[in-house]
Amino acid sequence: MNILIINGPNLNLLGKREPEIYGRETLADIESWLASSPESSDHSIKWFQSNHEGAIIDQIHDSINSIDGIIINPGALTHYSYAIRDAIASVNIPTVEVHLSDIDKREDFRKISVLKDVCVKQISGLGKNSYLEGLKILVDQE
Ligand code: DQA
Repeated sequence: MNILIINGPNLNLLGKREPEIYGRETLADIESWLASSPESSDHSIKWFQSNHEGAIIDQIHDSINSIDGIIINPGALTHYSYAIRDAIASVNIPTVEVHLSDIDKREDFRKISVLKDVCVKQISGLGKNSYLEGLKILVDQE
């Protein structure tokens, strides 16, 4: 499968950013860890990170006809981006929403995801394993 993993705002600062919540590994560390997992061996996995909502929407649009599944950690856009919700709904590519932290156990505003019901599943609170679980879900439903 051709899989796209999208990371939204502030996830470029993983490793430095609130390590007590998000851990000490960088996004690049998580990328190499996932690449070395047996689950990813038969798949082509492309990573994309942006702090800009429009760039993320463009990337989702550009996935039409080339990507079989999307894993997205939308960062704070999770909680309010109807534009990303519409983009996911528009392209008809199975998408899993993932979070490092457990968004249901944090501030009230994080408990709401405006993307959840256009995604195949939401996975939250497993740290980097949230990405691995997302991959397994996409592969299993193929
Ligand atoms: C996050 C949770 C969001 O609420 C937050 O804004 C993030 C990271 C997570 O991976 O736990 O940027 O998506």
